[in-house]
Amino acid sequence: MKAIVYTRYGLPEALQLKEVAKPTPRDDEVLIKVHAVSVNRSDWEGLRGKPLYARLGGLLRPRQQRLGSDIAGQVEMAGRNISRFQPGDEVFGDILPRLGGFAEYVCARESALAPKPASMTFEQAAAIPQAAVIALQGIRDKGQVQPGQKVLINGAGGGAGTFAVQLAKIYGAEVTGVDNTGKLDFMRSLGADFVIDHTQEDFTRSGKQYDLILDIVAHRSVFAYKRALRSNGSYFLAGGSVATMLQILLVGPWIRGTTGKKIRILAVRPNIEDLDLVKELIEAGQVTPVIDKTYPLSEVPEAIGYVGEGHAQGKVVISM
Ligand SMILES: NC(=O)c1ccc[n+]([C@@H]2O[C@H](COP(=O)([O-])OP(=O)(O)OC[C@H]3O[C@@H](n4cnc5c(N)ncnc54)[C@H](OP(=O)(O)O)[C@@H]3O)[C@@H](O)[C@H]2O)c1
Repeated sequence: MKAIVYTRYGLPEALQLKEVAKPTPRDDEVLIKVHAVSVNRSDWEGLRGKPLYARLGGLLRPRQQRLGSDIAGQVEMAGRNISRFQPGDEVFGDILPRLGGFAEYVCARESALAPKPASMTFEQAAAIPQAAVIALQGIRDKGQVQPGQKVLINGAGGGAGTFAVQLAKIYGAEVTGVDNTGKLDFMRSLGADFVIDHTQEDFTRSGKQYDLILDIVAHRSVFAYKRALRSNGSYFLAGGSVATMLQILLVGPWIRGTTGKKIRILAVRPNIEDLDLVKELIEAGQVTPVIDKTYPLSEVPEAIGYVGEGHAQGKVVISM
């Protein structure tokens, strides 16, 4: 089968389309014929080996030589212990940290997969898992957004941010989206009440304060985030620099103890229940997965580069 492979951290040129052996599912896995797979910033981070957490699987070179986690496809073969799926079923899910979705076939545990609704294309389904679950757990579970609260989403024009803006509006928040100049109208179209261009304005220095900040691209000091939070407000880092993560772990508890402001890291737990809820919201027309561009498998390097360089408005999907 054809798959995208890399053996060193680097730029998109490090990715190669190769002929590799078709995988065989273990007893607790299914073999999926991939129809579509979306690109996440985590693919860009895994390719670059930056931030440092992207090297957890291999400090000097990637141990797992494949990327691609948000897949949608058809079950081709089911392992002996599989009870929920059988050959022919259409499924989708986030297979991080196993990866390998940029390929014609991939194996996945059934616990990572949900049935794909017939009303959705494979491309739409692939655009959902990782981004939507980050957004749901940030806005609903950890953020516990209440009607009327002021919510700021940093990186609101990308994959997770696109879902976060829409979910925060469903939960009744007043939403401020932060992203680059080219994405201001796009964030408004998602429902953002206010937008901030991060190339022109630092939201932590505007004097405004928020009940919840969901940060997809955190790189500031914890004291900047503390400044931008209302008393009893919460800040969650979903992605960003290791320096900011370390500050949050070390200083966050002290800030909470002295001011009541909660500054924490969002540790996302992928699960089928969350995928099902997002699926229902999409089917009800309350949330829309936004696909900016689709590429063929051979153009995964271009697709990952497009996301990594910050051009994508919403999601980028590889369509087989
Ligand atoms: N916490 C967890 O458990 C967990 C689990 C899975 C994944 N993740 C992480 O969650 C993140 C998800 O990212 P994603 O896929 O949504 O990324 P994405 O699609 O690339 O979106 C990020 C957006 O932020 C913008 N941006 C970049 N720098 C910014 C800045 N300084 N201020 C404001 N906006 C900025 C980007 O555009 P420009 O670059 O053009 O500005 C882009 O629109 C990844 O870092 C991934 O590793 C976390």
